[in-house]
Formats: sequence, structure tokens, C-alpha cells
Amino acid sequence: MNTILVCSSTSNGNTRQVADALAEVLDARILSPAQATPTELAQADRIGFGSGIYWLAFAPELITCVNSLPDMSGRDAFVFATSGFPQPPFRPYLRNFTKLLTDKGFRATGTFSCRGLDTMGPFKLLGGVNKAHPTIDDLSAAQAFGRNMVSKAP
Ligand SMILES: Cc1cc2nc3c(=O)[nH]c(=O)nc-3n(C[C@H](O)[C@H](O)[C@H](O)COP(=O)(O)O)c2cc1C
Repeated sequence: MNTILVCSSTSNGNTRQVADALAEVLDARILSPAQATPTELAQADRIGFGSGIYWLAFAPELITCVNSLPDMSGRDAFVFATSGFPQPPFRPYLRNFTKLLTDKGFRATGTFSCRGLDTMGPFKLLGGVNKAHPTIDDLSAAQAFGRNMVSKAP
């Protein structure tokens, strides 16, 4: 499957590390949301969308990118994210973002998330929380997620 990853990683490059790990196993190109025009994405059968989590949501530019797409029926999509903390039950941002994708006609094939170094506001004074995340284990887990998707692809 021709795979493209659309990645926004503006804080510490954490999500970009996950995108790089996924790209290896999926043989994928990585684009920024600005590069991921409808014409570019029309070339892919499978698209992974990922960003850091900011204020309990995906990066606004990633959401804008998805909103600008035409009907994407017949294509697979998955979601990846890094965040300072686990997703809280009162704001299921992974599910909400997945719904944006299925509303565009994509077949959703899964989500991957892990912790990333968080230097937001006061955490910066402490040198950040989740130092050294994503870890090697986090990146291996991302690759296992990618391989699993490949094995289940139609
Ligand atoms: C402005 C800002 C807001 C953030 N808001 C959240 C949040 O709501 N929940 C959370 O778990 N992490 C939050 N974080 C932490 C980031 O999600 C985390 O550091 C992530 O790994 C950043 O990814 P990136 O380096 O790819 O940009 C925030 C970080 C910043 C800088």
C-alpha cells in the first residue's frame, strides 16, 4: 500500500520520532499538514495522521488538513499522537479525531499514542516531564502497531 504520514510536531519533535519509526516499517513518506494537499494525498491508499496533543486536542493545522479533504472513501487512515498525559475520559480526542476521518469516508484502522517529553508552561522549569520519551520501547511499540496494520491490510 502506498502510505503517507501527515505529521505536526511543533513542541519537541516527539511525534516526529514516532512518525520516523512508523515510516520505516510502512515504507512511508512524511509530509507536514501544509504539504499534505488533497492532490498529494490522492496518491496514497493509506494515510497516518499524527500530532502532539495541545490543550486536549490534535494540532489545529492537522484538523484543518483533514477538513480540507474531499471524500476519501476507499482509503485507509490511522491516527498517532504523543502527549504529556494519558487521554482523559472526559475528552476522548483520539476517538474524536478518528471520527473526523471516518466522516471523510476513510476506513479507520487504528490509533497509537505514547507519552512525549512535555515542556508546557511550568513543566519547563523542571526540565520537562516524561524526560526521554518517546523511549526506544515506545518507538518499538509504534513499529509493532505499524507491522500489525500491514499484516491486516486487505
Ligand atoms: C502548549 C502545549 C499544550 C499541551 N497540552 C497538553 C494536553 O492538553 N494534554 C497532554 O497530555 N499534553 C499536553 N501537552 C504536552 C504535549 O502533548 C507533548 O509534549 C507532546 O509530546 C508534544 O509533541 P511534539 O513534540 O510532537 O509537538 C502540551 C504541550 C504544549 C507545548
